[in-house]
Amino acid sequence: MINVGDKLPEATFSVLTYEGMENPTTADLFANKTVVLFAVPGAFTPTCSESHLPGYVVLADQIKAKGVDSIICLSVNDAFVMQAWGEMQNANELIMLADGDGSFTKAIGLGKETGSFGGYRSSRYAMIVKDGVVTHLNVEPEKTFGESSAETMLELL
Ligand code: BEZ
Repeated sequence: MINVGDKLPEATFSVLTYEGMENPTTADLFANKTVVLFAVPGAFTPTCSESHLPGYVVLADQIKAKGVDSIICLSVNDAFVMQAWGEMQNANELIMLADGDGSFTKAIGLGKETGSFGGYRSSRYAMIVKDGVVTHLNVEPEKTFGESSAETMLELL
């Protein structure tokens, strides 16, 4: 599993913006930037929709006021699903990032097999990344929520 002090691996993601489908790489998203990335097991799932994502929407301005260039919500879903979820949640200040094939999630060792629920998915976690290097990492124990919340990450900034 990736740890504090490690550099994020190279990967290519998908994101659907007003300009259309884009495929940013790790370097595009993280080089020379301070980024808060949080990851969820699935778009539209209960804790993710009722608590995790809304917390970041509400605190986005406060998080960015601490010098954060971007806030990324990542899931092993496709970019159309991520865009629709973000639009429904008014997450226009966030990057709704699709790790469609789970390759980034696998490379950092923060995924899990959920079987008939949805196959390979991300664990729930949040990290602060400076110029591609992880400076804080909070992974939620199974079926809990708090360590990766927007409130917790704001306190760490
Ligand atoms: C939830 O967000 O509550 C959730 C995510 C994945 C599976 C089940 C529930």
